[in-house]
Amino acid sequence: MSNTESRVARVSMAAIQEPVRTELDAVFGELGQIVRADFPLVDEVNQHLLRIKGKMFRPTLVLLSAQTTGQIGKRELTLGAIVELIHVATLVHDDSVDHSPLRRGQPTVNARFSHEIAVIMGDYLYSRAIEELVRLDSLEPLRIMSRVTNELTVGEMREVVAHDLLSFTQDDYEQLIHSKTASLMAGSCEVGALAGGDEYRDALERYGSCLGSAFQIADDLLDYTATESVTGKPTGQDLREHKITLPLIAALPQMDPTERQRVEDLMTDLTPATDDINAIIRIVEARGGIAAAHERAEEFAMQAETELDAVPAGRARDALRDCITYSIERRR
Ligand code: FPP
Ligand code: MG
Repeated sequence: MSNTESRVARVSMAAIQEPVRTELDAVFGELGQIVRADFPLVDEVNQHLLRIKGKMFRPTLVLLSAQTTGQIGKRELTLGAIVELIHVATLVHDDSVDHSPLRRGQPTVNARFSHEIAVIMGDYLYSRAIEELVRLDSLEPLRIMSRVTNELTVGEMREVVAHDLLSFTQDDYEQLIHSKTASLMAGSCEVGALAGGDEYRDALERYGSCLGSAFQIADDLLDYTATESVTGKPTGQDLREHKITLPLIAALPQMDPTERQRVEDLMTDLTPATDDINAIIRIVEARGGIAAAHERAEEFAMQAETELDAVPAGRARDALRDCITYSIERRR
């Protein structure tokens, strides 16, 4: 039995959040308070964003890491709100960069308002997050989050240039997913772990980093394996946008010259046909790209598991373990 097959249990985000349910509701309330503005348009965009509330995965990591190592206090609730705020700010900007019309089935800020408003609102949310961080009057969370947001920005820049099939390696890809996804998850765990002092900080940071990489590889795999009715995004959207992810990177060296040429043709076609995208997906599958990406996600997952062995056992640590299964098994 392969490692992937051995992960049979499917866990829901609601079950993972159970040990910190009340605190998470408080984080969402605080989030609403933080973003409030005395300016009608800012408030209108806020209302729109609060309606498309996500899974609150990053605040969940803050709270579970705090609960594992110490206690959740007022400061951890604020940190939960701050990481979600930073996450939402990056998505508002990213949707504008990508010209995406929809996020979580709802119109993006750039689609519903405009690109100008998306840029300004991303800045507004990010700067409010920094104000709240400063108000905590504690240098470590500020140090961690400023490093993370800088890395997120570099990650977005890496993504923008990640379209050259021949020069984008697996190392480049792993650096990219670390910057754009794993860094914030690692930072969320690290600021949460500060509740217990310094003892478990590094282990939880490494856990969050591996979790984030596994999460992003699984996300990129969905683009090859899941149907639109499941993810809300058409299959092959990354290929359509010429985004090179691990399944393709892993399959490429196994392809024959004709197959490789088909991939190269698709990458230069500004409006690729769905049939051509589907053909590439089949080639990637046949050449082992999907299996290889699953295997790499599983390696990150196992490393995340190992990091957790070092932190105190309990309900919160169990939930952190479930986050690993959730990340690599989720369907959307
Ligand atoms: C989503 O990637 C992109 C990110 C999570 C990172 C975006 C970061 C920035 C825009 C930098 C701005 C930073 C601040 C602090 C405002 P994706 O396009 O692969 O994911 P998707 O499919 O969910 O859109
Ligand atoms: Mg995007």
